Amino acid sequence: MSLLINAVSCHLEANSYPTTLNVLILIISFLEVPLPVFTSLSLPSVRSPGIMVHYERLVLYFDGASKGNPRGPAGCGWAIYEMNDQGADSRSIARDKDYLGYNISNNQAEYQGLINGLDYIFRQDMTCNSLYVRGDSMLVIRQMEGRFQVKSNNIKPYYNRAQESLERLDCARTTFKFVSRERNCVADELANEAIQNGYRGDGDSDSS
Ligand SMILES: *[C@@H]1O[C@H](CO)[C@@H](O)[C@H](O)[C@H]1NC(C)=O
Repeated sequence: MSLLINAVSCHLEANSYPTTLNVLILIISFLEVPLPVFTSLSLPSVRSPGIMVHYERLVLYFDGASKGNPRGPAGCGWAIYEMNDQGADSRSIARDKDYLGYNISNNQAEYQGLINGLDYIFRQDMTCNSLYVRGDSMLVIRQMEGRFQVKSNNIKPYYNRAQESLERLDCARTTFKFVSRERNCVADELANEAIQNGYRGDGDSDSS
């Protein structure tokens, strides 16, 4: 019952703030134009020429999914909130999703969601005292904490890139936390929406 309520409120929340990008993706999907595939692992160096905004506490939720793991199609999503004094998510700051295409595993898509969220914080020149990173991937959370080894050669470039993205942020403390999929539902829905939009953009099913 509580799961149902979570899912419903999550769904409403995820759709109540249509970003320009979401609207653009919606238009593109109607026109059946293939979406650009975002899988770059090179560090973007460009910051938006905005005013630096400092936050006491930021929360970043990330997620990624690959249908027919590891074949794809895959997508990822992330959502950033300000945390209040009571430790609850208060203001929603930003959220986004990316279609990642084929031959991307679940774990790679999870990492890409984390990387894209961290890079958004960098590009927007956001700084913080505490950054709370939350995901429902035990592997990514434990690897980023240094508690799990990174053995797979398919994961190493993603792990290295995520560490680079993290290290260049101006946040004094970072904490990683494994959360349930229900608590990660906004990022989870965004990742799945990205896959759906990618499907539509391709104009076909997952034949290779
Ligand atoms: C699929 O991805 C793996 C590693 O992520 C790579 O080694 C392989 O070359 C890719 N295959 C194709 C067909 O792109």
